[in-house]
Amino acid sequence: MISQNSIQQILSRIDIIEVVGTFIKLRKRGTSYLGLCPFHNEKTPSFTVSPAKEIYKCFGCGRSGNTIGFLMEHEKYSYVEALRWLANRYNVEIEETETSPEFKALQQTADSLYIINGFAQKIFSEALFNTDEGRDIALSYLQERGFREEIIKKFGLGYNSEQRDSFAKAAIAAQYNPDYLQKTGLVVLRDEKLVDNYRGRIIFPIHNQSGKVLGFGARIIKKNDRAPKYINTPENEIYVKSKLLYGSYFARMAIDKADECLLVEGYTDVVSLHQAGIENVVASGGTALTPDQLRLIRKYTNNLTIIYDGDNAGIKAALRGLDLALEESLNVQLVLIPDGEDPDSYVNKVGAAAFTSFIAQNKKDVILFQLEIALRDAGNDSNKKSAVVNQIAETIARVNKAEDFTKQQDYIKRCSQMLRIEESGLHTLVNKFIRERVVKEEGRRNREDAFPTGDDGQTPPAGTDDAVLALLQKDEMQERAFVRSLLEWGLKPWTETQRVADYVFEEIAENQLDELIDNKALVRVTHLYKAWYNEGLEPTPKNFLYYDDLTLSTLVVNIMDVNAEISPNWKEHYEGHIATREELFREEVFSTLNYLKLRKIKRLIDENQLDLEKPHTAEEQIILLQTHQHLKQMEISLTKTLGTVIYR
Ligand code: CTP
Ligand code: MN
Repeated sequence: MISQNSIQQILSRIDIIEVVGTFIKLRKRGTSYLGLCPFHNEKTPSFTVSPAKEIYKCFGCGRSGNTIGFLMEHEKYSYVEALRWLANRYNVEIEETETSPEFKALQQTADSLYIINGFAQKIFSEALFNTDEGRDIALSYLQERGFREEIIKKFGLGYNSEQRDSFAKAAIAAQYNPDYLQKTGLVVLRDEKLVDNYRGRIIFPIHNQSGKVLGFGARIIKKNDRAPKYINTPENEIYVKSKLLYGSYFARMAIDKADECLLVEGYTDVVSLHQAGIENVVASGGTALTPDQLRLIRKYTNNLTIIYDGDNAGIKAALRGLDLALEESLNVQLVLIPDGEDPDSYVNKVGAAAFTSFIAQNKKDVILFQLEIALRDAGNDSNKKSAVVNQIAETIARVNKAEDFTKQQDYIKRCSQMLRIEESGLHTLVNKFIRERVVKEEGRRNREDAFPTGDDGQTPPAGTDDAVLALLQKDEMQERAFVRSLLEWGLKPWTETQRVADYVFEEIAENQLDELIDNKALVRVTHLYKAWYNEGLEPTPKNFLYYDDLTLSTLVVNIMDVNAEISPNWKEHYEGHIATREELFREEVFSTLNYLKLRKIKRLIDENQLDLEKPHTAEEQIILLQTHQHLKQMEISLTKTLGTVIYR
């Protein structure tokens, strides 16, 4: 365990802006800093960091906390891991009292792997520049391909000799642990001897976001049909392929500045483009983009341009990661490099200026591009063509954030033209896919949230579909939470002149009650409360408990049983954080009421969607679309308000 003294030292040095700024691009705004929230998808920044209060808070999703909380949430560290990270960052020597053996082992492994990789990188670089074999075979090869010394050094490229064990020997002589050495993938055990894994290869070190080497790609030099062209580091404690993009350490400033990230396939593409002065470029290694990689890109920009060679399987791989990118509101464009070239060879052939203008002139929107290709493949086959229609509708359905609404409409228009089908038909289809996904996602979310309602006759009959059941329960919990807050806090002061009940009934006009609350008994409780209140009575739960309608009184008993019935939202947000419900009654009233409003808006959106699918005149269509947009805006602003209120 870390000693109390060390913890104090670490805490006293924390600079939240610097720490959070390591992971997220922050801009100064008044006394605080603003950036894109790493915990939910957003396009406009609502993630705020206050250096004075030493806290962060997202006004979009509501997440908040201090520096350590941030590291725990963002990096998935434990408390102790977060402290260690900070200690390392601020050069605080940690005094240990006792450490969990597992953690110690993990930490030690990671540290050792980084150290060995650093050592190896130096050895390989030495070998490239300062040995005859390196210069004759590798450096000359790199130079022949047009790589200059400066760029080779910047990226830390190296060479490992053709001998069986030149690196293994050096590592053993330097007394590195054989187990760790094998974990790095630099050596393998053959006949009980450690031998090199990358022989006669150019070595590309791969850096993490702070510039440490987490692994290598090793390219063969001499043509050899039996050996793989590249050998890469195996997955280990520090090398996790799905989380890294080659070149990101060198590219991040440039990506930020250009507000665009270029994605290529290969190591050599990245290095060559850098050398040509095009530095906002990273490589995926030709596999489908993963969510972690997309997140890495999104820290810096929303604009992703994929540059691949035209006749390559890699393009298919890149497109597979595309759905995710579209859902995250990334603008994805595609450029195909002509005639069997790749970005590396092409920039060497035509030069930096021509390359840049080629990219600018040949960027294609990736959805339209996909459609173009699919249509070409389908030819005159009408079965294939209808599959294409479905596929493109599904893709467009993913562009569905409120702020992407116009973008989505534009896609529908352009794709229907390309497909030569009615725009409204495509529209219908897109909406169908959206609805299907929403239903699926809601079902999943609610299953996760679900917990049983009380034994009050409200429980739906057994055998109801799981998802529907969960949905009903969740909806009803929200209604109950609202009614309970009215019963419990209705007489408390809201403002100087108003009580909570005044506020609530001002917010809900008489005729709206049924629209907000489904459960008829709950509607009646609320009506009754209002009637009594307007008569000058001060209604309390007791009034209901002794009310002579058994259904109502039982319901109120159940509602007031706080332990059995706490709304999922409350439980999630408040447990363990903040004092008592009483202290937070305003928030409770506000958010329970607004949850119901939000739910109503969501329902209106769904109804409107359904309506949109029916045939309409152009005018009607426009009105429905405007309604959609309007409702979406309301939804967003309500969601935001709710977020800010709940987490204080
Ligand atoms: N790759 C790999 N393993 C292989 C082949 C390729 O991991 N056996 C990955 C590497 O990250 C490589 C990328 O796929 O950089 C692209 O492959 P390719 O275009 O064949 O290599 P280049 O990087 O273009 O290398 P070169 O220009 O030297 O041919
Ligand atoms: Mn290449």
